[in-house]
Amino acid sequence: MANKMWGGRFGQKSDPLMEEINASIDFDRKLYRQDIAASKAHAAMLAKKGIITTHDAKQIAHGLDTILSEIEAGKFPFKRALEDIHMNVESRLADLIGSAGGRLHTARSRNDQVATDFRLWVRDAIDEIDAALAAYQRALAEKALEHAATVMPGFTHLQTAQPVTFGHHLLAYVEMAARDRGRFAGARERLNESPLGAAALAGTAFAIDRDMTAKALGFKRPMANSIDAVSDRDFVLETLAATAITSAHLSRFAEEIVLWSSPQSGLIRLSDRFTTGSSIMPQKRNPDAAELVRAKSGRIFGALIALLTVMKGLPLAYAKDMQEDKEGAMDSLGALKLSLAAMTGMVRDMAADAARMRQAAAGGFSTATDLADWLTRELKLPFREAHRAAGRIVAKAAEAGVALDELPLETMQEVEPGLTRAIFGVLSVDKSVASRTVYGGTAPKNVRLQAKRWLKRLGAMP
Ligand code: ARG
Repeated sequence: MANKMWGGRFGQKSDPLMEEINASIDFDRKLYRQDIAASKAHAAMLAKKGIITTHDAKQIAHGLDTILSEIEAGKFPFKRALEDIHMNVESRLADLIGSAGGRLHTARSRNDQVATDFRLWVRDAIDEIDAALAAYQRALAEKALEHAATVMPGFTHLQTAQPVTFGHHLLAYVEMAARDRGRFAGARERLNESPLGAAALAGTAFAIDRDMTAKALGFKRPMANSIDAVSDRDFVLETLAATAITSAHLSRFAEEIVLWSSPQSGLIRLSDRFTTGSSIMPQKRNPDAAELVRAKSGRIFGALIALLTVMKGLPLAYAKDMQEDKEGAMDSLGALKLSLAAMTGMVRDMAADAARMRQAAAGGFSTATDLADWLTRELKLPFREAHRAAGRIVAKAAEAGVALDELPLETMQEVEPGLTRAIFGVLSVDKSVASRTVYGGTAPKNVRLQAKRWLKRLGAMP
């Protein structure tokens, strides 16, 4: 027998290969909750408009509730021959309630149905990611407050640049996460319109109420163009782009965690809960979670490029190509959620080795800029000349094998006779960070303020 949902004009049965390439039920079954909610809204609207009877609508709603509990109990007979979640649900509805079930698909197509379901699904996923990002920000801000005055080396080119505070470095990631949340919120705002009622592509001749279904499903309004409603997947692309950027941010932090926790660096120590051992080397504590967060960006970027490629050049309106929007998106959003949870756990448990950080911060002549700034400020040297003089003093310290603040004043005066003992007031790492009180700077007092501001905003502080 040909397909019972659309087989009217077909004489032959589908080839098994046709079924295999066509079926999406193995992954779009994840849309069951959204599919059932949208069908319930649609049926209630059809009854309200007198397109189906209230009695039929009641049976439909009841049948859909039964299906929901069957699926949640793992008792639903999913069938590949029924292609996707939409036809699996509809077919089961007919089994349960008979011919009334066949009225549900009035004034609707799988094209507006899938667009509606997936918008709802992506919207839910965005809400979960937003909550995960907020928890991550909170863990970072708490750690930042704890380490507002913990001095560590700041890097450019991965070379010691200037001392910064650990709290300041952590707050940089809080800011990135805030912009990530903004990108997800923007995508959510734009996707939150209802395709339902666009039907196959042209709209419908039934006198339906699209505002009613839009409202019932929490959409702001119905989409204005039926062709657009069934044919675009920019809402998935935008979400995947936000996912990719967030993942890129996480991968940078994950990389730093890997570097900082290596025995050679020793700036931080991860907890046993977020490290793993080696099956041969008993001493090992490997940062696998951080490494995997770093690596997940591979599949996350891949999902964005894959869907861009699917959509590029696709003529309007619906084409089955678009069924390929789901697996990558589901995988990508799942990977991001897991990455965020793992990063949040790592941050919460992370211990900073403050002594080691301080020692590293003081190395590499990290206060050479403070020396040049002092010459500019106190001796009124043009900064370029001050830079040259400071460079020569660094060379002398390097030659003597000592830190800048260990070099005798007389040796410094060989380079710049105007130097006085006051210079030692700016060469320590603590003085260096404490002096950077400019808005956005690394001074502990700024960091304390910013961390508290974030914790307040995140609802973690009164
Ligand atoms: N499973 C399909 C998808 O995900 C649903 C829409 C099918 N529409 C159609 N005209 N064959 O895209």
